[in-house]
Amino acid sequence: MATYKLFFLPGDGIGQEVMKEVEKIAAWTQSVGICSFEIERGLVGGSAYDAHGKAISDSDMELAMASDAVIFGAVGGPKWDSVPYDVRPEAGLLRLRKDLGLFANLRPAICYPALADASSLKREIVEGLDIMIVRELTGGVYFGEPKQIIDLGNGQKRGIDTQVYDTYEIERIGRVAFELARKRGNKVTSSEKRNVMKSGVLWNEVITALHKREFADVQLEHQLADALGMQLVRWPKQFDVIVTDNLFGDMLSDVASMLTGSLGMLPSASLGEVDPKTGKRKSMYEPVHGSAPDIAGKGLANPIAMIASFAMALRYSFGLGDAADRIEKAIADVLDQGLRTADIKGDAKETISTTQMGDAILAQLQKGA
Ligand code: IPM
Ligand code: MG
Repeated sequence: MATYKLFFLPGDGIGQEVMKEVEKIAAWTQSVGICSFEIERGLVGGSAYDAHGKAISDSDMELAMASDAVIFGAVGGPKWDSVPYDVRPEAGLLRLRKDLGLFANLRPAICYPALADASSLKREIVEGLDIMIVRELTGGVYFGEPKQIIDLGNGQKRGIDTQVYDTYEIERIGRVAFELARKRGNKVTSSEKRNVMKSGVLWNEVITALHKREFADVQLEHQLADALGMQLVRWPKQFDVIVTDNLFGDMLSDVASMLTGSLGMLPSASLGEVDPKTGKRKSMYEPVHGSAPDIAGKGLANPIAMIASFAMALRYSFGLGDAADRIEKAIADVLDQGLRTADIKGDAKETISTTQMGDAILAQLQKGA
């Protein structure tokens, strides 16, 4: 039985609560002999700042580097609103993405039939939805230099962020999108703002050339990012794989989350380049939702996005697609049984807690085991 190194970083707020539920699912995975894990735990975000004044320590970064997959909860909260910018909770997450080279962020948006009424959109628009947003994660305006606020000396300041993309960055994310599309609906929609941004012009050119050279069998279309936002809420089922930059991907994936019923449903995988020597790639798995400080500690959080992120780890890091399918099926089953956390309540009479949802998914897995 293969052994994999997992590094758990629960982070802040509801990150702590949903991580407890994923630990149960990891224990199940081992107990039925799918694989075994060596698990380390660390601190990130505000909890790391409280412990040692940094958003993630160097020693925890080393553990992340040495792991086969990082399982990440969420970071941030009002408690750390006034800490220096460089050590704010989000800096820990961004350092992990950058230093691990996790350039490809996969954000599936799947609308479970049982939840079609929890979406703010009409059932026929979202029922059966299955799209994959591929967000570039280590470039663009998130990391471009210069990034600063300068004093103009006349009572004015200037805030600067830099949107920058090189050919290789666009090519490698494009490749991830086209390869995924071949295993799904065989269609890629590439999105930028080439009507106002030079980086958008280049993005469009590089994706078009890559398509022609290597992926002519896949259907490719381009949509401006604002129009794509509109189309996502108008008729989302037109999409299969969407590929876009770091900032547009951040926004569009939050929009897509509401198609599925709740932000509490959306998992994500962040992947690095495959090492040609070992065949392995660095990876991190996290729910798309944040730390939700308003509901933290109350047992209200939905652990499904976190558990589905773990399923993605099995699929994308360990080649255990069947085990991932079983976990996803268990999630669908408990939803079919009518079990709901508060965020996906819809018309349900009762809701269950974070722990009860985790236990229900586990029980469903055990039944099928
Ligand atoms: C996300 C989050 C992060 C981002 C924040 C927490 C820095 O919104 O993963 O979507 O902007 O990338
Ligand atoms: Mg976001």
